[in-house]
Amino acid sequence: MPRLLDAARVRAGARILDVGTGTGAAAAAAARRGADVTAVDAEPDMVARAGEAAPTADVRLAALPRLPFHDGEFDAVVGNFVLNHVGRPRQALGELRRVTRPGGRIALTVWPVPAAAGQALLGRAVRAAGVTRPADLPALPAEEDFPRTEDGFAALLGEAGLQDVDCDTLVWNHRTTLAEWWSGPAAGVATIGRLVTSRPPAVVAAIEGRLRSLSAEFTEADGTQPASRGPAGPRPGVRRPGRIPVAPGGGTPRPLAPGTTDEQSRSP
Ligand SMILES: C[S@@+](CC[C@H](N)C(=O)[O-])C[C@H]1O[C@@H](n2cnc3c(N)ncnc32)[C@H](O)[C@@H]1O
Repeated sequence: MPRLLDAARVRAGARILDVGTGTGAAAAAAARRGADVTAVDAEPDMVARAGEAAPTADVRLAALPRLPFHDGEFDAVVGNFVLNHVGRPRQALGELRRVTRPGGRIALTVWPVPAAAGQALLGRAVRAAGVTRPADLPALPAEEDFPRTEDGFAALLGEAGLQDVDCDTLVWNHRTTLAEWWSGPAAGVATIGRLVTSRPPAVVAAIEGRLRSLSAEFTEADGTQPASRGPAGPRPGVRRPGRIPVAPGGGTPRPLAPGTTDEQSRSP
């Protein structure tokens, strides 16, 4: 989060938009820096949660690719793992550019493809259980897609007219428990969760079993569990290396074609 806010030059007094704010983590962090924060999300329950997390922020219900703001209203926009959720990323980028003042900053993250090893685990478990992606799951049309690499993301931002684009991949080790890792898809979170919960109970159990066996790859070599050494006490662990392209950019708004739909683009 600090890298994202630094990339957007979030500082005291800056007018910041956190788009796709979710639970409001970036909005709250920006508010702690003294920024004048506005946040939007497409989901009403997320708007409520963000409002609690960032009580000084102006939190609203709004969805890309259309935002209820004037041209150049913000010094900077941040969007943490949001562009990978919109059906028309190019049009969404144009809108972010429109609401950012000339010379302002836009800092975004997307998940990379191919995914990092730990992140790919759930998909491997699904496939190992013989489950294939249903045709009716929303997918980004080929003409809207872009390579989820540093070069591919940077090119997309350049195409949108952003200048001085820079894109890095962040890598980290995420330590979690098998139960925690399974809880998201088991509750239907994200595309992979919808895929899991649309299956009969026996298939869901098979996926969970495959996840359990595959996750053994991530257990520490000495047999201990990665998360068992911390002050939180013993618990089984799965280690997930994560990678995020982070792309700050800036530039002068240019008009984009109207009309779009919103859909989940890819499973992380
Ligand atoms: C993966 S979450 C990230 C949330 C938050 N940025 C964070 O870092 O925790 C993606 C968020 O984007 C929101 N979202 C999805 N499509 C959107 C759209 N078209 N416009 C605005 N928000 C959207 C979702 O409701 C969700 O809260």
